[in-house]
Amino acid sequence: MRKKIVAGNWKMNNDLQEGLQLTSEIVHMVKDEVNDEVTVILATPFVHLSGVSRLLDGATNIFLGAQNCNEHVSGAYTGEVSAAMLKSVQAEYVILGHSERREYFNETNELLTKKVNTALAHGLKPIFCCGESLEIRENDTHFDFVCQQLTESLFHLNEEEITGIVIAYEPIWAIGTGKTATAGQAQEMHEVLRNHLAGKFGREIAEGLSILYGGSAKPANAGELFAGKDVDGGLIGGASLKSRDFVDIVKSFQ
Ligand code: PGA
Repeated sequence: MRKKIVAGNWKMNNDLQEGLQLTSEIVHMVKDEVNDEVTVILATPFVHLSGVSRLLDGATNIFLGAQNCNEHVSGAYTGEVSAAMLKSVQAEYVILGHSERREYFNETNELLTKKVNTALAHGLKPIFCCGESLEIRENDTHFDFVCQQLTESLFHLNEEEITGIVIAYEPIWAIGTGKTATAGQAQEMHEVLRNHLAGKFGREIAEGLSILYGGSAKPANAGELFAGKDVDGGLIGGASLKSRDFVDIVKSFQ
C-alpha cells in the first residue's frame, strides 16, 4: 500500500550532456527491466531539469525532482530558484533539508518549515531529509534528535498535507562515507519515525507514508536494507551516478 521509491540525488555532479546521457541509460534500463511497482525519481541539478524532463516524457514510473527550492514565492532573490519554476519544468518532487544543505547553507528546521509550505503550495512533493551526526548517535540521543527534526518542520501540517511528504532518513555518518547503516539500524529508526508520525497524524496516515533510507546504499546492500518492514526505498547519492548501479538498486525491490 505504501509507495516504494528509489530516488537518485545527483548532487553537484555531471554537466548537462553527462546528465542527459545518464538519464537516457536509466530510462532504457528501467523500461526493459523494472516493473511499475517502484517509483523512480531523478533529483538533478537545476540546470538539467528541463532537458531531463523531456527525456522522461513517456516513462510511466520515472519522475523528476529538484534538490532544493527557495522558501519565497518569487522576487528579488538573486541566484535562487522558486517552487513555481520547478513545477513549470514538470518537477514533481523536491529534496528539502538534506544534511549538506543544513550544514553548508545553514538550513534550520525553522527555515525548512517555510520551504515545505512553499513546495506543497505549488504542488511539489517534498522529500524531507532528516538524520543525526555520529556524535549524536554516540551520545545515544539519535532517536530524539531525528524525531525533533520532524516535529519542528512537519508537525504544523494538516492530515492532507502530510500525505504529500516523503521522508528520507539519512544518518550523516553514512552519507558518502561507504559506512552504511546496518539494516537493523535503518529499520529501527524508521519504525521510531513512523510511530512518532502516528502519534501526531494517526496510525492510518503514518502507515501510508514512505520512509526512505539514504547513506552509502549500493546494489550490494540495497536488498537487505529495503527488506526492513518500515524501509520503503532509498535516497541514493554516489551510486545514482552510474546507471547500472542505480537500476540494480531499483531492481532489488523485485
Ligand atoms: P550517498 O548519498 O548514497 O552517496 O551516501 C546519499 C545522499 O546524500 O542522499
